[in-house]
Amino acid sequence: MKESITLHDKTFVPYLTNEELEAAIDRLAEIINLEHQNEKEPVILLCVLNGAIMFTSELMKRLDFPIELMTIKVASYSGTRSGGHIQEVMGITGSVKGRKVIICEDIVDTGATMVYLDKRLRESGASDVKICSMLLKPEVYKQPLKLDYVAMEIPNRFIVGFGLDYDQLGRNYKDIYVLKD
Ligand code: IMP
Ligand code: MG
Repeated sequence: MKESITLHDKTFVPYLTNEELEAAIDRLAEIINLEHQNEKEPVILLCVLNGAIMFTSELMKRLDFPIELMTIKVASYSGTRSGGHIQEVMGITGSVKGRKVIICEDIVDTGATMVYLDKRLRESGASDVKICSMLLKPEVYKQPLKLDYVAMEIPNRFIVGFGLDYDQLGRNYKDIYVLKD
């Protein structure tokens, strides 16, 4: 892990190691596998681009029941703050009608994105919608919507790495870094 990284105008310092993240994903995958061991039909794993790309790839290789991968691209953030207004930049890559869906997200902050997607999928006829997020900021999340699977909770700090970005940079680092104060 680097001592610090600079992205645009900001400096970030080490926060979570790749080992810690992978251990948390191991534990989460075990729970998800247990709950889906009698699954008859393939479940749709919906990767929320771009942030969840690394988490989805780590999670899916640990899942041992039939899954079908789909993607969607939404945007709500600009800079280091969640905007709350969700834009569907790219629609879902397949039909979810009558299907069980697990949304795969990098981090839940205000929850605006998950509330939007949950509603969107139900309106499109999904038979079941579950939310799976690598990280959660519980100090910020105040939505009534249940988060089914969360690998780790973190305080309300701005982080990058493991798919997460600061204005599109930083997604490629395998460890997570936090904004230096
Ligand atoms: P929400 O809609 O407010 O829950 O925001 C969720 C989205 O904001 C996530 O999909 C992330 O892409 C982004 N986000 C939230 N917190 C952070 C952070 O600390 N670093 C980078 N992106 C974040
Ligand atoms: Mg995201």
